[in-house]
Amino acid sequence: MTWEETIIKIRKENDYKDLVAQAYFEEDLKLNVERFSKSKEYKETQKLIVRYAPNAKSILDIGCGNGISAISFALQGYQVTAVEPDESETVGAGAIKKLKTAYKLDNLDVFEAFAEDINFANNSFDIVYIRQAMHHANNLDKFVAECVRVLKPNGLLLTIRDHVIFNDNDKQCFLKNHPLHKFYGGENAYKPEAYRSAIKNAGAIIKKELKYFDSVINYFPLTDIEIKAIGDTEIKDQKKKLYNKIGALSKIPFVWNLYVILRGYRAPNENKIPGRMYSYIAYKK
Ligand SMILES: C[S@@+](CC[C@H](N)C(=O)[O-])C[C@H]1O[C@@H](n2cnc3c(N)ncnc32)[C@H](O)[C@@H]1O
Repeated sequence: MTWEETIIKIRKENDYKDLVAQAYFEEDLKLNVERFSKSKEYKETQKLIVRYAPNAKSILDIGCGNGISAISFALQGYQVTAVEPDESETVGAGAIKKLKTAYKLDNLDVFEAFAEDINFANNSFDIVYIRQAMHHANNLDKFVAECVRVLKPNGLLLTIRDHVIFNDNDKQCFLKNHPLHKFYGGENAYKPEAYRSAIKNAGAIIKKELKYFDSVINYFPLTDIEIKAIGDTEIKDQKKKLYNKIGALSKIPFVWNLYVILRGYRAPNENKIPGRMYSYIAYKK
């Protein structure tokens, strides 16, 4: 089944109603854009852009699917270049072209291509933005190298919500639990080291690695309150486990802190669910 066939199928099934809405796969393309552009994730992305690229005018949006972000940026007034390899009118370049017409946007160009094969001139864009697409790379190093090549010097590379795994077991577990992989077989995830080295080797400097719990950009549609509740519950469970092991000693703050250090993470645990998403903020040298 293709990606487009998968989305058409799940739109008809009640079990996937929430997923369709949360992933902006509704048939009404304008509704997806309107909901995405008002989301906490997009608002936080706008804040990052104001902070890290306040004078940016042009954005290259790579792997932009049905165009939720490319259209949102264009509606804000940026000169947007949208690149998407899938030609479909449901989830690909065809959908973006329809939206371009519907919103009468003359500051948006749409190209059908894989990131690895873009042929824009070097140093062309102020921002390269990639949402949930870098982990689909056929060749991660080439994908990122091309994105950085076409970025202007000091330009901003924003990679948003890419699935992360920590070992091969994680990858199998992530693929098995992914709600759509069983239909279209196109999911993927890389270790953080792979993303970091692809970005560095391409000639960009990583300013921030936003781990899953660091930003609403990654955990949206969960809210800050829900994230805090996950952390609190985990801390409670861990304290109980430690108490069962070593009794009252566990109540000494130093012992708890040492336990946290030895365990290698602070609650909530990033690694608990394989495939959780990370984002990267980087500059071209
Ligand atoms: C999960 S979708 C994300 C779409 C969109 N960015 C969004 O956030 O809604 C992943 C997209 O990446 C595209 N894609 C897959 N491999 C790619 C590649 N090598 N280069 C560029 N885009 C790719 C797919 O066609 C798909 O539209």
